[in-house]
Amino acid sequence: MSERLKVGILGGTGMVGQRFISLLENHPWFEVTTIAASPRSAGRTYEEAVRGRWKLDKPMPEGVKDIVVMDVNQVEEVASKVDFVFSAVDMTKDEIKRIEEEYAKTETPVVSNNSAHRWTPDVPMVVPEINPEHMEVIKYQKERLGTKRGFVAVKPNCSIQSYAPVLTAWKEFEPYEVVATTYQAISGAGKTFKEWPEMIENIIPYIGGEEEKSEKEPLRIWGHVDDEKKQIVPAESPKITCQCIRVPVLNGHTAAVFVKFKKNPTKEMLIEALRNFKGVPQELQLPSAPKNFIQYLEEDNRPQVKMDVNYENGMGVSVGRLREDSIYDWKFIGLSHNTVRGAAGGAVLCAELLKAQGYITKK
Ligand SMILES: NC(=O)c1ccc[n+]([C@@H]2O[C@H](COP(=O)([O-])OP(=O)(O)OC[C@H]3O[C@@H](n4cnc5c(N)ncnc54)[C@H](OP(=O)(O)O)[C@@H]3O)[C@@H](O)[C@H]2O)c1
Repeated sequence: MSERLKVGILGGTGMVGQRFISLLENHPWFEVTTIAASPRSAGRTYEEAVRGRWKLDKPMPEGVKDIVVMDVNQVEEVASKVDFVFSAVDMTKDEIKRIEEEYAKTETPVVSNNSAHRWTPDVPMVVPEINPEHMEVIKYQKERLGTKRGFVAVKPNCSIQSYAPVLTAWKEFEPYEVVATTYQAISGAGKTFKEWPEMIENIIPYIGGEEEKSEKEPLRIWGHVDDEKKQIVPAESPKITCQCIRVPVLNGHTAAVFVKFKKNPTKEMLIEALRNFKGVPQELQLPSAPKNFIQYLEEDNRPQVKMDVNYENGMGVSVGRLREDSIYDWKFIGLSHNTVRGAAGGAVLCAELLKAQGYITKK
């Protein structure tokens, strides 16, 4: 019998679901045994259900082609087949909240890519290099849900991955005001150019709900577990203001960022802090952890989406153009892969951390 943990992908037929399936091919700890989606796909083999809408360059893994897709709503049935699930379903927020908790109550941990539970006070929202200790709030969530091993953990929005890790690396210099503009890829909307031809040679200056997420989610990640309140309490600083713009790029969110610091770091100090930044995933050598989380590129024309989006298999962050600013202190450009680090890859790394911390085990 396989020693690997059995994993189900809720929403496995969608764009993020496909990315999960691709990233988990030959994963040393996890094996995709179950895929669930809407009733439209249920009952068909994965290959049939996804025919004509496989969105990745890499071909569909052979091992999943014959898996018969189940209905996400048949919670007990899906849960009985797996040790834990990744969630990437696209339903209403309330429906997602409800269904993810239903899975947790069957004693099935849920590692979610969705935003529905990001502000549930006892649900950890984690970038494993930044706030692995937030998983400690899971004990309070289990009390609320009445579970022994079932819980929900989430990863944050894709937009913040191009600057929140950078600001974390610079924490010792006390950043207190941040202005960020994100230039976001169309895959962040689950789309390709074929499905969204209006985006060719176009820019759309609006992504619903994205600016609020981009401003507030970093503060929750920099917050702490309050043992009296039994929840995560967000940090209050730095203040972040953000504009989010959709650009004609398939994969890769770029951020142009201005920062004010209380301390006075030099350029060398800032670059050194980026290059030295590492966290628990690097120390534990988790299977999906980038060796170097953040790279600094000296060339004036980097980072570029085409050259740098796949840095560290899409799990690293590329930074460049760090220079002094006449109004703010420093400015820089950041780039990260929105459907790898920003979505499925970030969630897989969270699950690896949860396994290493003992929260996800064989049922
Ligand atoms: N794309 C990104 O980069 C990104 C990043 C961060 C977060 N997200 C979030 O991740 C989620 C998935 O995004 P996506 O881009 O992968 O979406 P998608 O391509 O539209 O896929 C949606 C998935 O949900 C299933 N689904 C839809 N309606 C359902 C229903 N009523 N009941 C059960 N299952 C249902 C679909 O099944 P069928 O195939 O059977 O219809 C499919 O498997 C969304 O909540 C999105 O906001 C996406």
